[in-house]
Amino acid sequence: MRGVEIPSFYAGDIARLAAGMSQAGREVIPMHFGEPSLGASPAAIAAAHHALDHERQVYWNSPRLRERIARHYLDDYGVAVSPERILLTAGASAGLIALFTALFAAGDRVGLLRPGYPAYRNSLLALGRQPVEIDCGPRTQYRLTADALRQVPQPLHGLVLASPNNPTGAMLSREQLTAVAALCRARGTRLISDEIYHSIVYAAPAVCALEVDPQAIIVNSFSKLYRMTGWRLGWLVVPEDCVAHISTHLINFFLTPPSISQHAALAAFEDLSELRAAVATYAHNRARLLAELPALGFNGLSAPDGAFYLYLNVGHLTDDSLALCKRLLEETGIAAAPGIDFDPDHGRHCIRLSFAISSELVERAIELLRAWLPR
Ligand SMILES: Cc1ncc(COP(=O)(O)O)c(C=O)c1O
Repeated sequence: MRGVEIPSFYAGDIARLAAGMSQAGREVIPMHFGEPSLGASPAAIAAAHHALDHERQVYWNSPRLRERIARHYLDDYGVAVSPERILLTAGASAGLIALFTALFAAGDRVGLLRPGYPAYRNSLLALGRQPVEIDCGPRTQYRLTADALRQVPQPLHGLVLASPNNPTGAMLSREQLTAVAALCRARGTRLISDEIYHSIVYAAPAVCALEVDPQAIIVNSFSKLYRMTGWRLGWLVVPEDCVAHISTHLINFFLTPPSISQHAALAAFEDLSELRAAVATYAHNRARLLAELPALGFNGLSAPDGAFYLYLNVGHLTDDSLALCKRLLEETGIAAAPGIDFDPDHGRHCIRLSFAISSELVERAIELLRAWLPR
């Protein structure tokens, strides 16, 4: 191949094996992808049916959806954002690609948390931008500190920060986020805040980066709270003076996001209480896993503040997390994501379990693990 070589997305390899097992009739407990197993909400599905029957599916950026998203910032964070600053994208993934090309030049250095979402690093590499991984391990409870950021050699042209983070669920407090944002501003580092897990939190509410820095760029999506992974719809909030430039990148790469998904997403806002009820299930699943896993030999668990993942140290079982995930899948049907996706080095000793599945399946996973793990 003459193209850029980038690391695999190993959870995808596990997904392929899991799909093969399902097709062969074997039970699989899907804890590998960050994908709520409940689908989109009833109102979203009804709106999609209606849109298929009554609307033309054409290139489109729904003005009403952009207005509704703008209102969400006022309602939930007390931040006024004009709808013109909301750019619809084909999932957070497309938004990130457009940001990486629009905001950074080839060779620019962009900071990322390690462990963190692998597609940040791999997309930056594919685009010729330079990922700069910042170690955010157990020593800082998986959080980025202003101190750690201060130690990154300059220049740092951008920083991508997810809070709550994937795979750890670790979230920055208002003070921590304020300190990080202030340092970015002082150093000319463009802050990109990925807030895809914002409404999935278990104690304190998440702080929107716009509350502490009006120049921050926000990435968000209908994939997680709204449970619309396959609908491929997300959004950016960008400063007014970046709207035209970033929109040009988006339209050249992607034209517009799926129109049917925009109809459905607008209706999904009517189902917020149903969507929040699913978060109560995740909270229950989280509590059950945190209660049971220590007795199965998983010590030093870090309780996630948000998102729907547990990042487990499996160093007592292996130093090859991909091999462990393959064996776990083959022998129990539990599909997990290997830590090397999120941290190429320490991730050899970690796996990530998603608990955005039913509570019955979580209980089944606990039983299967109890029977499978060495005593
Ligand atoms: C932190 C983070 N950002 C972005 C994405 C991609 O989301 P989307 O489905 O909206 O492209 C994911 C998916 O898991 C994620 O965990």
